[in-house]
Amino acid sequence: MTDRFNRQIDYLRVSVTDRCNFRCVYCMPEEGADVCSREELLTADEIIQLVEIASELGLRKIRLTGGEPLVRKDLADIVSGISRLPGVTDLSLTTNGFLLAEQSAALAASGLHRVNVSLDTLRPERFAPIARRGSLDRVIEGINTARKVGIGPIKINCVAMRGVNDDEAADFAEWTLREEVHVRFIEVMPIRWNLDETVEFEPWRAHGDRGLLQLNQHSGGMLSDLEMRRRMISADELRTKIEEQHGPLEEAELATNGPARTFRVPGAKGTVGFISQISNDLCANCNRLRLTADGFLRPCLMSDGELDLRTPLRADASRETLADLFRHVVEHKPERHYLAEGQQVTGRGMSQLGG
Ligand code: 5AD
Ligand code: SF4
Repeated sequence: MTDRFNRQIDYLRVSVTDRCNFRCVYCMPEEGADVCSREELLTADEIIQLVEIASELGLRKIRLTGGEPLVRKDLADIVSGISRLPGVTDLSLTTNGFLLAEQSAALAASGLHRVNVSLDTLRPERFAPIARRGSLDRVIEGINTARKVGIGPIKINCVAMRGVNDDEAADFAEWTLREEVHVRFIEVMPIRWNLDETVEFEPWRAHGDRGLLQLNQHSGGMLSDLEMRRRMISADELRTKIEEQHGPLEEAELATNGPARTFRVPGAKGTVGFISQISNDLCANCNRLRLTADGFLRPCLMSDGELDLRTPLRADASRETLADLFRHVVEHKPERHYLAEGQQVTGRGMSQLGG
């Protein structure tokens, strides 16, 4: 399928749950976000049916996301159902890694090809202030287990925040020297739950001490829209920090690059990449749609439009009717987001959107 702006749409991100066992400060309030009810959640069969239709329309690359997909009990059924579809050429998963050590083998056996692990710090003492649950040890163990069972190449998603973890960019790059990991620095996006009710943070920039302890004190809420904008650090700045330590980066090619611009520290086993959806115009090459855990299809992460697929699916709509709904959403894919112009994304939080 091709949209109005001549973008070829071949990638579907499927959120399998909006629940999560972490509470990352840029994603969820401490007390958790509203989650959809069991009845609203698509069943494994419903997800597989919709992905089958999508794959026949050319959405051949599928990524399972959350919330945290590994908290869903029947995740392996979803993976095996999708991996058997002839139209699906790439099946991957984004996880926070906490349950990966125990589930890697089952997921590999079910047909999962690749995994992205979200990890924002390599320093144990920083893990809790950022993710507010879990531990660095468990995530690293999960990454190592995934590698052992052959779910790779492993990518690391690191949401970079000024004064929080930007001083670790060179450490992440150092990791790619030792191991085949592909680190992707992601600019923090001002998307959050419930604009009115979110606890507002004090600005932290006044604190010389890089802000980590301040994060801890305010753990009741999540980062405000404004705070996320203030903490955003561009790919260019991060690249400079890495090059100061490791010398000039060289361009690298990776088959499964996605929207990242990818580089290598000369001689490294892995790569570093930058996903700069704010400072750079990724929209022009956007190839994706998103299916929410409760069955709504969205043409864009950063615009609030979406279409209900669950109701027609449960009313036994024909495959052709459902396929038309996919086409309709592609036709309405917006040209770009307007975050730089001050647009606010308010309809759903990131844990419902699947990152
Ligand atoms: N900005 C950027 N990335 C985010 N993620 C969650 N919330 C945000 C945000 N506000 C990331 C997670 C994970 C992916 C699914 O989305 O860290 O890597
Ligand atoms: Fe959970 Fe991912 Fe949101 Fe963190 S970013 S709270 S791991 S859904």
